[in-house]
Amino acid sequence: MAEMNNNAVKAGPGEPLLKVEDLEVVYTSRQEVVQAVNHINFEVRRGETLGIVGETGAGKTTTAYSIMRILPDRTAKILNGKIIYEGEDLLTLPENVMRNTIRGEKIAIIFQDPMSALNPIMRIGDQIAEALKYHNKEDLTPEQISEKVDQTLELVGIQKGRRYDYPHQLSGGMKQRVVIAIALVCEPELIIADEPTTALDVTIQAQVLAMIDELRETLGTALILITHDLGIVAQMCDNVAIMYAGEIIENGTVEDIYSGKMQHPYTTGLFGSLPDLEKKTDRLSPIDGLMPDPTDLPKGCKFNPRCPRCMDICREQTPPEIVDGTHRVACHLYAGMGQAAKAAEQVKEEA
Ligand SMILES: Nc1ncnc2c1ncn2[C@@H]1O[C@H](COP(=O)(O)OP(=O)(O)OP(=O)(O)O)[C@@H](O)[C@H]1O
Ligand SMILES: [Mg+2]
Repeated sequence: MAEMNNNAVKAGPGEPLLKVEDLEVVYTSRQEVVQAVNHINFEVRRGETLGIVGETGAGKTTTAYSIMRILPDRTAKILNGKIIYEGEDLLTLPENVMRNTIRGEKIAIIFQDPMSALNPIMRIGDQIAEALKYHNKEDLTPEQISEKVDQTLELVGIQKGRRYDYPHQLSGGMKQRVVIAIALVCEPELIIADEPTTALDVTIQAQVLAMIDELRETLGTALILITHDLGIVAQMCDNVAIMYAGEIIENGTVEDIYSGKMQHPYTTGLFGSLPDLEKKTDRLSPIDGLMPDPTDLPKGCKFNPRCPRCMDICREQTPPEIVDGTHRVACHLYAGMGQAAKAAEQVKEEA
């Protein structure tokens, strides 16, 4: 599909495609305030894959919905921050501009559950065509749209003859492929995949992920991959952000995070809960304890009640941000380490 390659040409270094700055989101219901996302920062460059990892309730979906501006109107509120996309703050755009020029067209989302994303009483080919017609950047004729639907189905590994099927006639894996086809058909620059395979069979999961990765590579699309699975991140991502209780507690390149150097104890815990195939343990070793109550977050480091390396200061003070090149960690353990400390040491040596 030569015409789908446009985005690849644009891929490259330079200004980030997406820059999330100091984002804060709360849900308010019956006097309670859920602090879902607490001042997070991250960026994604063209063609790059960012993995967002964390336990349930960490704020991953809230982050994704904030970027798409599809948070529930009545309860959710973005209290602070900017979401800069190609130099423009999405949070300041009128809804119709968001709908007509960003959502689906520049940024597409793949939801967790394919069934809720598809219309059960509409043929899958029509659902793909509808997405295309809505934006129709290239003024395609009905025949061209039909042809593109066939091409897109083939791209995600579904025979074009099945365009007349209804969702219930397809397996779970095929339904998710249709959802991916809908996301891809307008050739977005950024895809947000929110746990795209959790609803699928383990065997199908790997296939669907491999497909997303291949398409991303050929089309040059940037990807934010939300997952619980550090194994998947290692295979597919360039950069990783580890989220805990609404904060990004560690981020960096895949090498930074997997090197084990200056690792946040929560990240270490996540690695510990990976099943170790060689040791043949049949149980995961999850991190002890539960995520804190988001309506009443602990003082100091949010992870302190569960942290095996917790110190007194962790219960009192917000952890410092330690930065070493592309690697950033928010943890008292490493206070005095990182770039600033290294620079200071060098000055001392030189003196
Ligand atoms: N509509 C809502 N109303 C109130 N609270 C909400 C709502 N949606 C999410 N929350 C709360 O916000 C916090 C973050 O939720 P979010 O769905 O973003 O987490 P997540 O990291 O995507 O989790 P999961 O891995 O389970 O999908 C959680 O405490 C959750 O209970
Ligand atoms: Mg979620």
